[in-house]
Amino acid sequence: MPGLSLGDTIPNVQADSTHGHIKLYDYIGDSWAIIFSHPADFTPVCTTELGRIANYIGEFEKRGVKLLGLSSDEVDSHRAWLPDVEACTPGCKVTYPILADPKSEIMAKLNMLDPDEKDEIGKPLASRALHIIGPDKKLKLSFLYPGTTGRNFDEVLRVVDSLQLAAKYRVCTPANWKPGERVIIPPSVNDEEAKKLYPQGFETISLPSGKKYIRMTKV
Ligand code: BEZ
Repeated sequence: MPGLSLGDTIPNVQADSTHGHIKLYDYIGDSWAIIFSHPADFTPVCTTELGRIANYIGEFEKRGVKLLGLSSDEVDSHRAWLPDVEACTPGCKVTYPILADPKSEIMAKLNMLDPDEKDEIGKPLASRALHIIGPDKKLKLSFLYPGTTGRNFDEVLRVVDSLQLAAKYRVCTPANWKPGERVIIPPSVNDEEAKKLYPQGFETISLPSGKKYIRMTKV
């Protein structure tokens, strides 16, 4: 399986979708984007996922993030599936496009296949991969889940907030961080720089080692 690692430029794939033909770079434009794969149409976990992420469209729009689904069936099948998706998650409206990838070519290029899951003719099926791509078209974060485990879109939104904060300010977010909570000053910033970069101030946490490497601030 070809590697696609953090920081790599995502390939400019193109395919038919429920919104017509899409070239990935044109679709992303200057936005952030989330591209997420599904093993197949008319499967139960995928049906819940497409509807659940649709419930977050407004939140992603506020953050300038475009959504793009990807499933290994044809566009006609995707279109026929959408009424089930919307019925399964009442109130959701799937307004983002879903790419068709019947030969799994795009999924192979985007490192979204699960080598352990094959269809009846031996073709590898997609995993539940989800790539967050920055406006520079580089891979900022990836989830790689097996078909058995549906994704948590609260977590997807949370990591978008973390990525966008880190891109705007020079900060990191601690474990289980939520928007509004304190952030960490990265080790690459020394105390002198920190005084200039974070005029709001920062707290150095006292540790048994006596080392002063956890510094918290608010942005
Ligand atoms: C599902 O969407 O339910 C599913 C798809 C592929 C493998 C396992 C579950």
